Amino acid sequence: MEKLVSLAKRRGFVFQSSEIYGGLGSVWDYGPLGVELKKNIKERWWRSMVHEREDIEGLDAAILMHPRVWEASGHVAGFTDPLVDCKHCKNRFRADDPKIKGTPGQPDGQCPVCGMKGTLTAPRQFNLMFKTFMGPVEEDAAVIWMRPETAQGIYVNYLNVLQSSRQKVPFGIAQIGKAFRNEITPGNFVFRTREFEQMEMQFFVKPGSDGEWFEFWRGERMKWIQDLGIRQEKLRWHQHGKTELAHYAKDAYDIEYEFPFGWNEFEGIHNRGDFDLSRHQEYSGKKLDYLDTSTNTRFVPNVVETSAGADRTTLVVLCDAYREEAVKNEDGVDKEELRVVLKLKPELAPLKAAVFPLVNKDGMPDIARRIYDDLRKRLNVFYDDGGSIGRRYRRQDEAGTPFCITIDGQTSQDQTVTVRDRDTLKQIRVASAKLVDYLKEQLTG
Ligand code: GAP
Repeated sequence: MEKLVSLAKRRGFVFQSSEIYGGLGSVWDYGPLGVELKKNIKERWWRSMVHEREDIEGLDAAILMHPRVWEASGHVAGFTDPLVDCKHCKNRFRADDPKIKGTPGQPDGQCPVCGMKGTLTAPRQFNLMFKTFMGPVEEDAAVIWMRPETAQGIYVNYLNVLQSSRQKVPFGIAQIGKAFRNEITPGNFVFRTREFEQMEMQFFVKPGSDGEWFEFWRGERMKWIQDLGIRQEKLRWHQHGKTELAHYAKDAYDIEYEFPFGWNEFEGIHNRGDFDLSRHQEYSGKKLDYLDTSTNTRFVPNVVETSAGADRTTLVVLCDAYREEAVKNEDGVDKEELRVVLKLKPELAPLKAAVFPLVNKDGMPDIARRIYDDLRKRLNVFYDDGGSIGRRYRRQDEAGTPFCITIDGQTSQDQTVTVRDRDTLKQIRVASAKLVDYLKEQLTG
Protein backbone atom coordinates (compact mmCIF):
# COMPACT_ATOMS: atom_id res chain seq x y z
CA MET A 1 0.00 0.00 0.00
CA GLU A 2 2.87 2.41 0.80
CA LYS A 3 4.13 1.95 -2.76
CA LEU A 4 0.74 2.95 -4.17
CA VAL A 5 0.45 5.95 -1.83
CA SER A 6 3.90 7.10 -2.85
CA LEU A 7 3.14 6.66 -6.58
CA ALA A 8 -0.13 8.55 -6.09
CA LYS A 9 1.79 11.51 -4.69
CA ARG A 10 4.72 11.32 -7.13
CA ARG A 11 2.49 11.30 -10.20
CA GLY A 12 -0.13 13.74 -8.93
CA PHE A 13 -3.06 11.41 -8.23
CA VAL A 14 -3.69 12.10 -4.52
CA PHE A 15 -2.12 14.48 -1.99
CA GLN A 16 -2.68 14.81 1.73
CA SER A 17 -5.02 17.71 2.51
CA SER A 18 -3.27 20.86 3.80
CA GLU A 19 0.08 19.07 3.57
CA ILE A 20 2.20 22.19 4.08
CA TYR A 21 0.53 22.58 7.51
CA GLY A 22 1.31 18.99 8.45
CA GLY A 23 -1.86 17.54 6.88
CA LEU A 24 -5.41 17.13 8.10
CA GLY A 25 -6.35 13.70 9.47
CA SER A 26 -7.83 11.40 6.84
CA VAL A 27 -8.73 14.09 4.35
CA TRP A 28 -7.21 13.88 0.88
CA ASP A 29 -6.95 16.06 -2.24
CA TYR A 30 -7.02 14.77 -5.80
CA GLY A 31 -4.21 16.12 -8.01
CA PRO A 32 -4.18 16.63 -11.80
CA LEU A 33 -4.24 12.91 -12.68
CA GLY A 34 -6.43 11.83 -9.74
CA VAL A 35 -9.18 14.29 -10.54
CA GLU A 36 -9.33 12.96 -14.12
CA LEU A 37 -9.40 9.32 -13.00
CA LYS A 38 -12.14 9.89 -10.44
CA LYS A 39 -14.12 12.01 -12.93
CA ASN A 40 -13.90 9.24 -15.54
CA ILE A 41 -15.28 6.75 -13.00
CA LYS A 42 -18.09 9.09 -11.95
CA GLU A 43 -19.00 9.85 -15.58
CA ARG A 44 -19.12 6.15 -16.38
CA TRP A 45 -21.42 5.57 -13.39
CA TRP A 46 -23.68 8.47 -14.43
CA ARG A 47 -23.83 7.25 -18.01
CA SER A 48 -24.84 3.72 -17.04
CA MET A 49 -27.20 4.68 -14.19
CA VAL A 50 -28.87 7.78 -15.64
CA HIS A 51 -28.31 8.30 -19.38
CA GLU A 52 -28.62 4.70 -20.46
CA ARG A 53 -31.80 4.05 -18.42
CA GLU A 54 -35.16 5.59 -19.07
CA ASP A 55 -36.38 4.67 -15.56
CA ILE A 56 -33.73 6.64 -13.60
CA GLU A 57 -33.50 10.42 -13.14
CA GLY A 58 -30.50 12.43 -11.92
CA LEU A 59 -30.40 14.78 -8.95
CA ASP A 60 -27.94 17.12 -7.24
CA ALA A 61 -29.29 17.91 -3.77
CA ALA A 62 -27.61 20.31 -1.36
CA ILE A 63 -25.25 19.03 1.34
CA LEU A 64 -26.99 21.04 4.04
CA MET A 65 -30.51 19.83 4.83
CA HIS A 66 -33.27 20.53 7.33
CA PRO A 67 -32.19 19.04 10.72
CA ARG A 68 -35.44 17.04 10.96
CA VAL A 69 -34.23 14.99 7.96
CA TRP A 70 -31.58 13.38 10.17
CA GLU A 71 -34.08 12.68 12.94
CA ALA A 72 -36.39 10.97 10.44
CA SER A 73 -33.53 9.02 8.86
CA GLY A 74 -32.44 7.66 12.25
CA HIS A 75 -28.98 9.26 12.05
CA VAL A 76 -29.38 11.55 15.08
CA ALA A 77 -30.34 8.64 17.33
CA GLY A 78 -28.55 5.75 15.69
CA PHE A 79 -25.50 6.83 13.67
CA THR A 80 -23.16 6.36 16.58
CA ASP A 81 -20.08 4.46 17.70
CA PRO A 82 -19.41 3.62 21.36
CA LEU A 83 -16.21 5.43 22.36
CA VAL A 84 -13.95 5.63 25.40
CA ASP A 85 -11.58 8.46 26.35
CA CYS A 86 -8.32 8.21 28.24
CA LYS A 87 -8.44 10.87 30.97
CA HIS A 88 -4.65 10.85 31.17
CA CYS A 89 -3.38 11.12 27.57
CA LYS A 90 -6.69 12.41 26.10
CA ASN A 91 -6.74 9.84 23.31
CA ARG A 92 -10.08 8.47 22.15
CA PHE A 93 -10.79 4.89 21.04
CA ARG A 94 -13.64 2.73 19.85
CA ALA A 95 -14.88 0.75 22.86
CA ASP A 96 -14.33 -2.50 20.94
CA ASP A 97 -10.72 -1.61 20.01
CA PRO A 98 -8.84 -4.92 20.39
CA LYS A 99 -5.79 -3.03 21.72
CA ILE A 100 -7.69 -2.09 24.91
CA LYS A 101 -6.95 -4.45 27.81
CA GLY A 102 -9.40 -4.89 30.68
CA THR A 103 -12.77 -3.14 30.92
CA PRO A 104 -13.09 0.56 30.09
CA GLY A 105 -14.59 2.45 33.06
CA GLN A 106 -13.13 -0.11 35.52
CA PRO A 107 -9.77 -0.01 37.37
CA ASP A 108 -8.30 -2.72 35.09
CA GLY A 109 -9.13 -0.86 31.86
CA GLN A 110 -5.75 -0.01 30.28
CA CYS A 111 -5.09 2.74 27.73
CA PRO A 112 -3.38 1.30 24.64
CA VAL A 113 -1.43 4.54 24.06
CA CYS A 114 -0.09 5.72 27.44
CA GLY A 115 -0.45 2.34 29.20
CA MET A 116 -2.15 3.83 32.31
CA LYS A 117 -4.71 1.68 34.10
CA GLY A 118 -8.07 2.96 35.34
CA THR A 119 -7.95 6.12 33.20
CA LEU A 120 -10.41 4.98 30.51
CA THR A 121 -13.97 6.28 30.76
CA ALA A 122 -16.97 3.97 30.40
CA PRO A 123 -18.17 3.78 26.75
CA ARG A 124 -20.24 6.73 25.53
CA GLN A 125 -22.17 7.00 22.28
CA PHE A 126 -20.50 9.36 19.83
CA ASN A 127 -22.38 10.62 16.77
CA LEU A 128 -20.44 10.33 13.52
CA MET A 129 -22.16 13.31 11.88
CA PHE A 130 -20.32 16.62 11.71
CA LYS A 131 -22.31 19.31 13.45
CA THR A 132 -22.33 22.95 12.44
CA PHE A 133 -24.50 26.04 12.95
CA MET A 134 -26.64 27.88 10.43
CA GLY A 135 -26.69 31.65 10.79
CA PRO A 136 -24.74 33.85 13.21
CA VAL A 137 -25.75 32.32 16.55
CA GLU A 138 -24.23 29.09 17.83
CA GLU A 139 -27.24 27.76 19.73
CA ASP A 140 -29.14 24.48 19.76
CA ALA A 141 -31.88 25.82 17.51
CA ALA A 142 -29.30 26.62 14.81
CA VAL A 143 -27.67 23.17 14.69
CA ILE A 144 -27.46 21.53 11.29
CA TRP A 145 -25.46 18.53 10.09
CA MET A 146 -23.10 17.86 7.23
CA ARG A 147 -24.82 15.01 5.40
CA PRO A 148 -23.28 11.58 6.14
CA GLU A 149 -24.85 10.05 3.01
CA THR A 150 -26.39 11.42 -0.19
CA ALA A 151 -29.43 9.10 -0.01
CA GLN A 152 -31.56 11.41 2.16
CA GLY A 153 -31.41 14.18 -0.46
CA ILE A 154 -33.06 11.69 -2.81
CA TYR A 155 -35.87 10.67 -0.42
CA VAL A 156 -36.87 14.23 0.39
CA ASN A 157 -37.01 15.01 -3.35
CA TYR A 158 -38.85 11.80 -4.26
CA LEU A 159 -42.16 13.59 -4.80
CA ASN A 160 -40.62 16.53 -6.69
CA VAL A 161 -38.86 14.20 -9.11
CA LEU A 162 -41.86 11.90 -9.49
CA GLN A 163 -44.15 14.79 -10.36
CA SER A 164 -41.77 16.78 -12.57
CA SER A 165 -40.39 13.84 -14.55
CA ARG A 166 -43.73 12.01 -14.92
CA GLN A 167 -42.03 8.73 -14.01
CA LYS A 168 -44.06 5.82 -12.64
CA VAL A 169 -43.04 3.32 -9.97
CA PRO A 170 -40.77 1.42 -10.47
CA PHE A 171 -38.24 4.17 -11.10
CA GLY A 172 -35.03 5.45 -9.58
CA ILE A 173 -33.18 8.64 -8.64
CA ALA A 174 -29.39 8.83 -8.83
CA GLN A 175 -26.96 11.32 -7.39
CA ILE A 176 -23.23 11.83 -6.93
CA GLY A 177 -22.04 14.06 -4.14
CA LYS A 178 -19.94 14.67 -1.07
CA ALA A 179 -20.67 13.11 2.31
CA PHE A 180 -18.97 13.63 5.68
CA ARG A 181 -18.42 11.31 8.64
CA ASN A 182 -16.38 12.01 11.71
CA GLU A 183 -14.85 8.52 11.54
CA ILE A 184 -13.05 7.35 14.65
CA THR A 185 -10.81 4.84 12.94
CA PRO A 186 -10.22 6.32 9.51
CA GLY A 187 -7.28 5.22 7.44
CA ASN A 188 -5.86 3.12 4.66
CA PHE A 189 -5.37 6.11 2.38
CA VAL A 190 -8.66 7.14 0.68
CA PHE A 191 -10.45 3.98 1.89
CA ARG A 192 -11.99 5.49 5.04
CA THR A 193 -11.91 9.27 5.15
CA ARG A 194 -13.85 12.00 6.86
CA GLU A 195 -14.86 13.72 3.63
CA PHE A 196 -15.72 11.50 0.67
CA GLU A 197 -17.95 11.19 -2.34
CA GLN A 198 -20.80 8.77 -2.88
CA MET A 199 -22.54 7.56 -6.05
CA GLU A 200 -25.97 6.49 -4.85
CA MET A 201 -29.15 5.37 -6.58
CA GLN A 202 -32.48 4.77 -4.85
CA PHE A 203 -34.94 2.62 -6.81
CA PHE A 204 -38.59 2.96 -5.74
CA VAL A 205 -40.64 -0.20 -6.22
CA LYS A 206 -44.00 -1.72 -5.36
CA PRO A 207 -43.93 -3.64 -2.05
CA GLY A 208 -43.59 -7.33 -2.81
CA SER A 209 -41.42 -6.73 -5.89
CA ASP A 210 -38.46 -5.50 -3.78
CA GLY A 211 -36.79 -8.95 -3.58
CA GLU A 212 -36.75 -9.29 -7.35
CA TRP A 213 -35.42 -5.76 -7.89
CA PHE A 214 -32.79 -6.32 -5.20
CA GLU A 215 -31.45 -9.31 -7.16
CA PHE A 216 -31.64 -7.33 -10.41
CA TRP A 217 -29.53 -4.48 -9.00
CA ARG A 218 -27.02 -6.85 -7.44
CA GLY A 219 -26.41 -8.29 -10.90
CA GLU A 220 -26.20 -4.89 -12.62
CA ARG A 221 -23.76 -3.44 -10.13
CA MET A 222 -21.41 -6.41 -10.28
CA LYS A 223 -21.42 -6.22 -14.11
CA TRP A 224 -20.58 -2.50 -13.95
CA ILE A 225 -17.63 -3.14 -11.66
CA GLN A 226 -16.29 -5.98 -13.79
CA ASP A 227 -16.60 -3.65 -16.75
CA LEU A 228 -14.12 -1.29 -15.09
CA GLY A 229 -11.59 -4.04 -15.82
CA ILE A 230 -11.29 -5.25 -12.19
CA ARG A 231 -9.95 -8.80 -11.89
CA GLN A 232 -12.74 -11.24 -11.09
CA GLU A 233 -10.76 -13.15 -8.46
CA LYS A 234 -10.33 -9.95 -6.43
CA LEU A 235 -14.10 -9.43 -6.07
CA ARG A 236 -16.60 -11.18 -3.83
CA TRP A 237 -20.02 -10.74 -2.22
CA HIS A 238 -20.60 -10.42 1.50
CA GLN A 239 -24.16 -10.70 2.81
CA HIS A 240 -24.83 -8.81 6.04
CA GLY A 241 -25.73 -11.02 9.00
CA LYS A 242 -28.58 -9.98 11.32
CA THR A 243 -26.25 -8.08 13.66
CA GLU A 244 -24.53 -6.19 10.83
CA LEU A 245 -27.68 -4.88 9.14
CA ALA A 246 -28.12 -1.10 9.34
CA HIS A 247 -31.20 0.15 11.16
CA TYR A 248 -33.07 0.64 7.87
CA ALA A 249 -32.13 -2.54 6.02
CA LYS A 250 -34.17 -5.69 5.32
CA ASP A 251 -31.30 -7.30 3.43
CA ALA A 252 -27.88 -6.07 2.35
CA TYR A 253 -24.92 -7.26 0.32
CA ASP A 254 -21.52 -5.64 0.06
CA ILE A 255 -19.24 -5.94 -2.92
CA GLU A 256 -15.77 -6.50 -1.50
CA TYR A 257 -12.35 -6.14 -3.07
CA GLU A 258 -9.14 -7.74 -1.87
CA PHE A 259 -7.17 -4.58 -1.03
CA PRO A 260 -3.50 -4.87 0.03
CA PHE A 261 -4.86 -4.53 3.62
CA GLY A 262 -7.44 -7.32 3.15
CA TRP A 263 -10.99 -7.90 1.87
CA ASN A 264 -13.17 -4.82 2.35
CA GLU A 265 -16.43 -3.33 1.13
CA PHE A 266 -16.54 -0.60 -1.49
CA GLU A 267 -20.19 -0.77 -2.56
CA GLY A 268 -23.41 -1.87 -0.88
CA ILE A 269 -26.75 -2.97 -2.31
CA HIS A 270 -29.49 -2.56 0.28
CA ASN A 271 -33.14 -3.55 0.44
CA ARG A 272 -34.44 -0.71 2.63
CA GLY A 273 -38.13 -1.71 2.60
CA ASP A 274 -40.46 1.26 3.16
CA PHE A 275 -38.40 2.61 6.08
CA ASP A 276 -37.24 5.82 4.39
CA LEU A 277 -40.41 7.14 2.79
CA SER A 278 -42.55 6.08 5.77
CA ARG A 279 -40.28 7.93 8.19
CA HIS A 280 -40.15 11.10 6.08
CA GLN A 281 -43.92 10.92 5.70
CA GLU A 282 -44.27 10.67 9.49
CA TYR A 283 -41.73 13.41 10.34
CA SER A 284 -42.69 15.90 7.61
CA GLY A 285 -46.44 15.31 7.71
CA LYS A 286 -46.41 15.24 3.90
CA LYS A 287 -48.07 12.29 2.13
CA LEU A 288 -45.48 10.28 0.22
CA ASP A 289 -47.59 7.30 -0.81
CA TYR A 290 -48.06 6.41 -4.46
CA LEU A 291 -51.27 5.93 -6.39
CA ASP A 292 -50.98 3.00 -8.75
CA THR A 293 -53.51 4.00 -11.41
CA SER A 294 -53.53 0.54 -12.99
CA THR A 295 -54.97 -1.03 -9.83
CA ASN A 296 -56.24 2.12 -8.13
CA THR A 297 -54.32 1.20 -4.98
CA ARG A 298 -52.04 3.31 -2.79
CA PHE A 299 -48.77 2.19 -1.23
CA VAL A 300 -45.55 3.60 0.21
CA PRO A 301 -42.84 2.48 -2.23
CA ASN A 302 -40.05 0.21 -1.05
CA VAL A 303 -36.48 1.22 -1.82
CA VAL A 304 -33.63 -0.79 -3.29
CA GLU A 305 -30.43 1.21 -2.93
CA THR A 306 -27.09 0.89 -4.69
CA SER A 307 -24.49 2.85 -2.74
CA ALA A 308 -20.91 3.15 -3.97
CA GLY A 309 -18.05 5.30 -2.73
CA ALA A 310 -16.40 7.24 -5.59
CA ASP A 311 -13.13 7.35 -3.62
CA ARG A 312 -13.18 3.69 -2.67
CA THR A 313 -14.01 2.69 -6.25
CA THR A 314 -11.08 4.85 -7.40
CA LEU A 315 -8.88 3.06 -4.86
CA VAL A 316 -10.08 -0.31 -6.16
CA VAL A 317 -9.23 0.76 -9.71
CA LEU A 318 -5.77 2.00 -8.66
CA CYS A 319 -4.95 -1.10 -6.57
CA ASP A 320 -6.11 -3.42 -9.32
CA ALA A 321 -4.13 -1.59 -12.01
CA TYR A 322 -0.84 -1.38 -10.05
CA ARG A 323 1.81 -3.81 -11.34
CA GLU A 324 5.56 -4.18 -11.10
CA GLU A 325 7.10 -5.92 -14.09
CA ALA A 326 10.54 -6.83 -15.40
CA VAL A 327 10.82 -5.38 -18.92
CA LYS A 328 13.50 -4.66 -21.50
CA ASN A 329 15.24 -1.31 -21.26
CA GLU A 330 13.66 1.00 -23.86
CA ASP A 331 16.70 3.23 -24.38
CA GLY A 332 18.41 0.54 -26.43
CA VAL A 333 20.59 -0.78 -23.57
CA ASP A 334 20.62 -4.56 -23.51
CA LYS A 335 19.30 -5.19 -20.00
CA GLU A 336 16.12 -5.84 -18.06
CA GLU A 337 14.70 -3.37 -15.58
CA LEU A 338 11.75 -3.13 -13.21
CA ARG A 339 8.90 -0.91 -14.25
CA VAL A 340 5.88 0.23 -12.27
CA VAL A 341 2.83 0.45 -14.47
CA LEU A 342 -0.83 1.25 -13.95
CA LYS A 343 -2.72 -1.04 -16.29
CA LEU A 344 -5.83 1.12 -16.26
CA LYS A 345 -8.60 0.45 -18.72
CA PRO A 346 -7.85 3.05 -21.46
CA GLU A 347 -11.29 4.66 -21.03
CA LEU A 348 -10.48 5.34 -17.37
CA ALA A 349 -6.89 6.50 -17.86
CA PRO A 350 -6.42 10.20 -16.96
CA LEU A 351 -4.17 10.80 -19.97
CA LYS A 352 -4.99 9.02 -23.19
CA ALA A 353 -1.64 9.61 -24.87
CA ALA A 354 1.69 11.37 -24.44
CA VAL A 355 3.58 13.04 -27.29
CA PHE A 356 7.40 13.10 -27.39
CA PRO A 357 9.97 14.47 -29.83
CA LEU A 358 12.70 11.79 -29.88
CA VAL A 359 15.34 14.53 -29.57
CA ASN A 360 15.06 18.28 -29.16
CA LYS A 361 16.49 19.12 -32.60
CA ASP A 362 16.08 18.51 -36.36
CA GLY A 363 12.60 20.06 -36.34
CA MET A 364 11.16 17.25 -34.20
CA PRO A 365 9.85 19.49 -31.37
CA ASP A 366 7.93 21.64 -33.92
CA ILE A 367 6.19 18.63 -35.46
CA ALA A 368 5.56 17.11 -32.00
CA ARG A 369 3.99 20.36 -30.78
CA ARG A 370 1.74 20.54 -33.85
CA ILE A 371 0.56 16.96 -33.31
CA TYR A 372 0.05 17.60 -29.58
CA ASP A 373 -1.98 20.78 -30.25
CA ASP A 374 -4.17 18.90 -32.69
CA LEU A 375 -4.76 15.91 -30.35
CA ARG A 376 -5.38 18.15 -27.35
CA LYS A 377 -8.63 19.43 -28.87
CA ARG A 378 -10.10 15.92 -28.78
CA LEU A 379 -8.30 13.93 -26.07
CA ASN A 380 -6.54 14.57 -22.78
CA VAL A 381 -2.89 14.29 -23.87
CA PHE A 382 0.48 15.27 -22.43
CA TYR A 383 3.65 16.73 -24.00
CA ASP A 384 7.04 15.71 -22.66
CA ASP A 385 10.48 16.49 -24.05
CA GLY A 386 12.50 15.96 -20.85
CA GLY A 387 15.02 13.14 -20.39
CA SER A 388 15.70 9.96 -22.34
CA ILE A 389 12.84 8.35 -24.23
CA GLY A 390 12.97 5.34 -21.87
CA ARG A 391 12.56 7.62 -18.85
CA ARG A 392 9.62 9.35 -20.50
CA TYR A 393 7.95 5.97 -21.19
CA ARG A 394 8.40 4.98 -17.52
CA ARG A 395 6.77 8.18 -16.29
CA GLN A 396 3.75 7.54 -18.52
CA ASP A 397 3.61 3.88 -17.38
CA GLU A 398 3.23 5.14 -13.81
CA ALA A 399 0.50 7.53 -14.93
CA GLY A 400 -1.31 4.65 -16.70
CA THR A 401 -1.17 6.40 -20.10
CA PRO A 402 -2.12 3.78 -22.69
CA PHE A 403 -0.24 5.26 -25.69
CA CYS A 404 3.02 7.14 -26.24
CA ILE A 405 3.57 8.85 -29.58
CA THR A 406 7.13 9.60 -30.67
CA ILE A 407 8.17 11.91 -33.45
CA ASP A 408 11.49 10.72 -34.85
CA GLY A 409 13.81 11.21 -37.84
CA GLN A 410 11.46 9.31 -40.15
CA THR A 411 8.49 11.57 -39.38
CA SER A 412 9.67 14.45 -41.57
CA GLN A 413 10.24 12.04 -44.47
CA ASP A 414 7.03 9.98 -44.50
CA GLN A 415 4.73 11.79 -41.97
CA THR A 416 4.45 8.73 -39.74
CA VAL A 417 5.01 8.53 -35.98
CA THR A 418 5.56 5.60 -33.63
CA VAL A 419 2.77 4.62 -31.26
CA ARG A 420 3.89 2.55 -28.28
CA ASP A 421 1.37 0.41 -26.41
CA ARG A 422 1.67 0.63 -22.59
CA ASP A 423 0.87 -3.04 -21.96
CA THR A 424 2.65 -4.88 -24.79
CA LEU A 425 5.46 -2.29 -25.22
CA LYS A 426 5.07 -2.90 -28.96
CA GLN A 427 5.53 0.03 -31.32
CA ILE A 428 3.84 0.51 -34.67
CA ARG A 429 4.08 3.33 -37.21
CA VAL A 430 0.91 5.31 -37.86
CA ALA A 431 0.41 8.13 -40.38
CA SER A 432 0.14 11.34 -38.36
CA ALA A 433 -2.99 12.31 -40.35
CA LYS A 434 -4.69 9.12 -39.12
CA LEU A 435 -3.56 9.41 -35.50
CA VAL A 436 -6.84 10.70 -34.05
CA ASP A 437 -8.90 7.94 -35.69
CA TYR A 438 -6.37 5.31 -34.66
CA LEU A 439 -6.34 6.43 -31.01
CA LYS A 440 -10.13 6.76 -30.80
CA GLU A 441 -10.55 3.23 -32.14
CA GLN A 442 -8.00 1.85 -29.66
CA LEU A 443 -9.46 3.75 -26.72
CA THR A 444 -13.00 2.52 -27.17
CA GLY A 445 -12.22 -0.89 -28.65
N1 GAP B 1 -26.75 5.23 1.93
C1 GAP B 1 -26.16 4.05 2.43
C2 GAP B 1 -24.79 4.24 2.87
O1 GAP B 1 -24.28 5.35 2.98
P1 GAP B 1 -22.66 2.95 3.64
O2 GAP B 1 -22.35 1.47 3.56
O3 GAP B 1 -22.54 3.62 4.94
O4 GAP B 1 -24.14 3.06 3.07
C3 GAP B 1 -21.82 3.38 1.21
O5 GAP B 1 -21.77 3.71 2.59
C4 GAP B 1 -20.47 3.49 0.56
O6 GAP B 1 -19.93 4.80 0.81
C5 GAP B 1 -19.41 2.52 1.10
O7 GAP B 1 -19.47 1.27 0.46
C6 GAP B 1 -18.13 3.25 0.78
O8 GAP B 1 -17.74 3.01 -0.56
C7 GAP B 1 -18.52 4.71 0.92
N2 GAP B 1 -18.09 5.21 2.25
C8 GAP B 1 -18.77 5.15 3.42
N3 GAP B 1 -18.06 5.70 4.43
C9 GAP B 1 -16.90 6.12 3.88
C10 GAP B 1 -15.73 6.78 4.39
N4 GAP B 1 -15.63 7.15 5.66
N5 GAP B 1 -14.71 7.05 3.53
C11 GAP B 1 -14.81 6.71 2.22
N6 GAP B 1 -15.87 6.09 1.68
C12 GAP B 1 -16.91 5.80 2.49
